[in-house]
Amino acid sequence: MVNYKETIAKKLSSIIEEMSFEEILGLMEHPKNTEMGDYAFPCFKLAKAFRKAPNVIAEELALKVADENLFSAVTAVSGFLNFTVNAEYFAKNVIEDVLTKGEAYGASDIGSGKKTIIEYSSVNIAKPFHMGHIRSTMIGESLHRIYKFLGYDTVAINHLGDYGTQFGKLIVAYKLWGDREVIEADPIPELLKIYVQFHEAAEENPALEDDARAWFTKLENGDEEAVALWTLFKDMSLKVFNRVYGKLGVTFDSYAGESFYSDKMPAIIQELRDKNIVEKSEGAEIVNLEPYGLTPALVTKKDGSSLYLTRDLAAAKYRKDTYNFDKNIYVVGSAQKLHFQQWMKILDLMGYEWYKDCVHVEFGMVSLEEGALSTRRGNVVFLEDVLDKAVEQTLSIINEKNPGLEQKEKIAEQIGVGAVVFQELYTSRTKDYSFSLDKTLSFEGETGPYVQYTHARACSVLRKIEGNALETPDFSALTDDASKDVVRILSKFGEIVLLAHKNYEPHTVARYVVELGQSFNRFYHDNAILVDEPGVKAARVALVKAVKSVLKTAMKLVCIEAPEQM
Ligand code: ARG
Repeated sequence: MVNYKETIAKKLSSIIEEMSFEEILGLMEHPKNTEMGDYAFPCFKLAKAFRKAPNVIAEELALKVADENLFSAVTAVSGFLNFTVNAEYFAKNVIEDVLTKGEAYGASDIGSGKKTIIEYSSVNIAKPFHMGHIRSTMIGESLHRIYKFLGYDTVAINHLGDYGTQFGKLIVAYKLWGDREVIEADPIPELLKIYVQFHEAAEENPALEDDARAWFTKLENGDEEAVALWTLFKDMSLKVFNRVYGKLGVTFDSYAGESFYSDKMPAIIQELRDKNIVEKSEGAEIVNLEPYGLTPALVTKKDGSSLYLTRDLAAAKYRKDTYNFDKNIYVVGSAQKLHFQQWMKILDLMGYEWYKDCVHVEFGMVSLEEGALSTRRGNVVFLEDVLDKAVEQTLSIINEKNPGLEQKEKIAEQIGVGAVVFQELYTSRTKDYSFSLDKTLSFEGETGPYVQYTHARACSVLRKIEGNALETPDFSALTDDASKDVVRILSKFGEIVLLAHKNYEPHTVARYVVELGQSFNRFYHDNAILVDEPGVKAARVALVKAVKSVLKTAMKLVCIEAPEQM
């Protein structure tokens, strides 16, 4: 396939001595208004070297780069050199490329030989896997898929919150009020209940806090009973968490959480002392980060026990030693921005140059639209409850509208879960958003069901011609505005994936899926597909096939299923 951007850049670089091919490629863009053309090269940077006005340069270049086969017009407009593609040739190129590459269309090998760690979800043992966790979990999983798609060697890590003094409290609470059978039946709410009970009781009886500290110390020292209880909490919690991950299609390569680093703490603390980074402060140890505009970071407590930050230092070092990453990504909420700034600065002070390869991919908050999600579990809204409710409501919609649908339970699951996931990824990650179940499940607007329905519609068209031999496509049939727009959107899929990767922004792909879906639906509305003229029919069918293929690939990158019927 002709890579238009590169072809243009190559041509221009043979004319413009002052700029390299890469520089030109980097400057190329798509005009905001598609009527202005499909590709544009801004000439402003050349004005100085050429001692001419940008538009004069653009006019001169336009004469030199014309190519009838590729472009129907090359024009100079306000300092931009605009290229309008030859629609027929462009359609042929793009569609053939999509159909030959199939699932690999849009992929690249820019990540080949590079190791990327993506840490996400990182939920806390014995605590609810709540609606707020959807952010890290899905942004992380989507980045995981995008990185793989671009050829990176990825390691997906769930840095479980499975350590800390709260486990001493939980052990005390369990020994006082725990009923194993009751807890096993519904682990998280029950563990949460006795944990809350502990706090209430400790207010009356502060000695309980001492007991909890003692039990945590036992746990740290490997005491058999303490470890057995902690393991029980962890196993029960993971069973529940894995059920949720299963529903979401989320997978990890490692569950090495905070406890995994407990035996690596003494060495990292010693290293901080040896490198003279820490200072004593009221019995504890801190790193003074004032010169860098940050508040002091606590790395050991008065009683010598380790902290979240210290465990993160040990974890980073372990990851570098074990995986020798090229990039180490943390998908964690903006609330922990300071934590990651301090942590990165300390790695820098320790002399680890690779701190520059660590990235905190932050995100805003998700809130819940009032009343939309009544829950029988108090204040916390469990993510699994939201997913189940979405599936249940989808199934009742199917029962009402299409009761004969085959495998309707499975499809309801794909639509319900997909709806929740899609709403999550459709929002730019740095923005706060408010979750609404009704909006999520709507088949209209920018939703998961809308794009899934569009994909199913394409599949249904293709089912109608299954087994029929088609003529050679007449791509001139794809030069009307609606068809041209679909082709244009198909052509930029690879760029979209790269952009999402560059900004750690899955929503770029989610928006693309909607854009392609809307454009396809316009095409479908404007053009009959199964027409008599064999060449026209073949061209339109080829376009449908290409759309189906790219939709499916893109949907996978944003972690939603693409049912063929719904
Ligand atoms: N478990 C933590 C929390 O719920 C998130 C962990 C983030 N990852 C990290 N390496 N600190 O707040």
